[in-house]
Amino acid sequence: MLTDSGVNAMSDNQFAAFLNADDAYAGSMTFYEFADAVKDILGYQYVMNVHQGRAAEHLLAKIFGKPGGAVITNYHFTTTKAHIEVTSGSACLELYADEALKTKSTHPFKGNMDIQRLKDAIKKWGKDKIGYVRMEATTNLLGGQPFSMENLKEVRKVCDQHGLLTVMDGSLIAENAYFIWKREKEYQNKTVAEIIKEMCSLVDLFYLSGRKNTCVRGGFIATNKKELIEQLEPWLPLYEGFYTYGGMSMREIGAMAVGLREMVDPAVAGCSIEQIKYFVEKLDGMGIPVVTPPGGLACHVDARKFVNHIPKEHYIAGALTAALYIASGVRAMERGTISTDRAKDGKEVYADLELTRIALPRRVYSISHIEYIIDRLNWIYKNRELIKGLRFISEPPVLRFFLGKLDALDNWGRKFCDVFKKDIGGTW
Ligand SMILES: Cc1ncc(COP(=O)(O)O)c(C=O)c1O
Repeated sequence: MLTDSGVNAMSDNQFAAFLNADDAYAGSMTFYEFADAVKDILGYQYVMNVHQGRAAEHLLAKIFGKPGGAVITNYHFTTTKAHIEVTSGSACLELYADEALKTKSTHPFKGNMDIQRLKDAIKKWGKDKIGYVRMEATTNLLGGQPFSMENLKEVRKVCDQHGLLTVMDGSLIAENAYFIWKREKEYQNKTVAEIIKEMCSLVDLFYLSGRKNTCVRGGFIATNKKELIEQLEPWLPLYEGFYTYGGMSMREIGAMAVGLREMVDPAVAGCSIEQIKYFVEKLDGMGIPVVTPPGGLACHVDARKFVNHIPKEHYIAGALTAALYIASGVRAMERGTISTDRAKDGKEVYADLELTRIALPRRVYSISHIEYIIDRLNWIYKNRELIKGLRFISEPPVLRFFLGKLDALDNWGRKFCDVFKKDIGGTW
């Protein structure tokens, strides 16, 4: 439950595609079958594989970023922001609406871009300084919250008026489409497949991490614009590999083609969403602070409200995530200040939200697993005063949440274990 990335269960047909793949260095038939799936499902004529989502972000930032300029997004993802800043030397502007940061809300589309802020940013920076405008389909760090089709259309309209390049991060596109189907009135009579195609038709460039919705490991960039793919293509052999494999194994590309075709099935697109809804509504009903409405990819606990005695300097979500691990063995993910790198001058940048993300990979967990975690979270909530903060003992300069090491302040973990052991049992 650390992530929903690369840990989903593949289907039987995906395993079959593994065995049937044409393992050629150049000109593999499997690549062309994959390109057909991209055309059929997403409607794009041109596609290139990359080894995973951040490799796509690297290439886009390198080719289309404007050093000293800006890239606009509805919300950042960790690797996206790092590539925008480090690879392209641009600022990452996040133009979400105020509602996005309200963890308790009924707004169906907290991943929307604020259109007035978009217009203001274009005015302020000037179109020549803006590399591209990126929409993340279900915003990972806002608690998996989707954007609406209406919002995407408005973004497109404004970008067209100013000649700006539009990009979609579609790593979680099937889930965003499922939410549009369920929550946007005009789309209730459409299929998830039709919604996905329409979303794709509204951007110039599309990329994804295949580790999520397509349930494999890898990624790709796709477009209908020849002039865009031609700018990217020369760099592919340098950073990824020849264009019929792009750093992926042919087996994964074969399984990705199947995963693309399968993700438009509402039973697949909605499988973890419905589990998350159950998880979130149950915790919310018990008074445990969670992000509402339920989003995609995970149940997100609002750590700032859960352990409101911990000061922001002591890594609130990290501390709660550690406590959950001690009391349940469940590895969740800190999505807060630890996941936000320091500013250039070394000053801490406090995250907008402090979330403990309990991910629900697709086709992996059952309701019993969820019930178990609810039971443990309930115990932790009653004993939350035992949780104190954390401090870094080793801190890498970029994406520090991956390899950094932290320690418990005042050794609180020991006391927490002792009380838990007395109450629930277990050995340490
Ligand atoms: C929205 C989004 N974009 C990009 C990425 C990066 O993809 P990858 O982990 O395959 O490099 C992720 C990974 O979790 C993601 O959630």
